[in-house]
Amino acid sequence: PSRARAHALPARAALRLLAPAASAHCAVSRPPRPGLASESASVSAAAGAGPPACAPAPQPAAAAALGLCSLLLLLAPGHACPAGCACTDPHTVDCRDRGLPSVPDPFPLDVRKLLVAGNRIQQIPEDFFIFYGDLVYLDFRNNSLRSLEEGTFSGSAKLVFLDLSYNNLTQLGAGAFRSAGRLVKLSLANNNLAGVHEAAFETLESLQVLELNDNNLRSLSVAALAALPALRSLRLDGNPWLCDCDFAHLFSWIQENASKLPKGLDEIQCSLPMESRRISLRDLSEASFSECRFSLSLTDLFIIIFSGVAVSIAAIISSFFLATVVQCFQRCAPNKDAEDEDEDEDE
Ligand SMILES: *[C@@H]1O[C@H](CO)[C@@H](O)[C@H](O)[C@H]1NC(C)=O
Ligand SMILES: *[C@@H]1O[C@H](CO)[C@@H](O)[C@H](O)[C@H]1NC(C)=O
Ligand SMILES: *[C@@H]1O[C@H](CO)[C@@H](O)[C@H](O)[C@H]1NC(C)=O
Repeated sequence: PSRARAHALPARAALRLLAPAASAHCAVSRPPRPGLASESASVSAAAGAGPPACAPAPQPAAAAALGLCSLLLLLAPGHACPAGCACTDPHTVDCRDRGLPSVPDPFPLDVRKLLVAGNRIQQIPEDFFIFYGDLVYLDFRNNSLRSLEEGTFSGSAKLVFLDLSYNNLTQLGAGAFRSAGRLVKLSLANNNLAGVHEAAFETLESLQVLELNDNNLRSLSVAALAALPALRSLRLDGNPWLCDCDFAHLFSWIQENASKLPKGLDEIQCSLPMESRRISLRDLSEASFSECRFSLSLTDLFIIIFSGVAVSIAAIISSFFLATVVQCFQRCAPNKDAEDEDEDEDE
């Protein structure tokens, strides 16, 4: 009931302000929808408690008031608070810790802050941001998201804060957050991420805070981070990084951008390819990856080996060809002599 009253308040205030007489009619003429029962009750209560000017008005005025009423009812935002949620102000829907299996629906289209943390939601509907394009703040922490559909965030042009931590995400595809160009904070911490596409964060031009800590990442393309021009804070700790030659690029990025890591290098650990032991990045240096200089020119090595093999094959083929030709000459020559002999005999 307190929730419904909170909703009725702005509408009531507007009605009082615009037409004191209208509120009386408004309360009467309202369709008796069950979900709005308490709300209309509070409006009628307000009308009842109002000044005597609320008494029934003459006919034409009443018609005009009725029109105004319906218009206000149509335009008045924030009327349908989803069952079991709290709508603390006209732009906030709070459905935290309700055990919800899916995103509550419908809720007011102009909601800016949606809190659905601590539920069992497995999916963000694909068309979610097409309907709720005014969302600025979305707290989806501690749910059961397994994947993000491509294009989910198209239409999320106003989104600034997105918390997807404590879910069950395993992969981020290319352009997973495409169109969320105003996003400032993105948390993907405490998921199960094992793969992040190098274009996963493209178009996130305003992103300042990115949390990838406590996932299952063994590697990450530097290109994914290089796509974030405004990045100020990055969490990478709590992942089973593998310090192989692929990691060398990320390592130099981390070293040069260590000031962006709020927990520093100490908290990031990686395992060496051959050993099971984990070491802190603090104990590594560029020199640790010096062996990789050689492996980085591995391609060259392959080219050398390959051209060597190709040359040998060519040599074998040509000597085989030569041998055949020689053999042929050896065989053909006596035959020709024989033919000559035959011809001689004929003569
Ligand atoms: C996740 O939500 C459940 C249910 O609301 C709660 O019991 C649990 O403590 C939450 N976990 C975290 C890490 O917030
Ligand atoms: C996450 O996914 C794994 C495997 O797919 C499953 O075993 C686990 O229960 C899931 N956890 C949650 C919180 O949904
Ligand atoms: C450090 O971060 C900036 C911005 O993301 C990037 O341009 C730069 O290349 C990074 N440093 C290295 C060594 O990659």
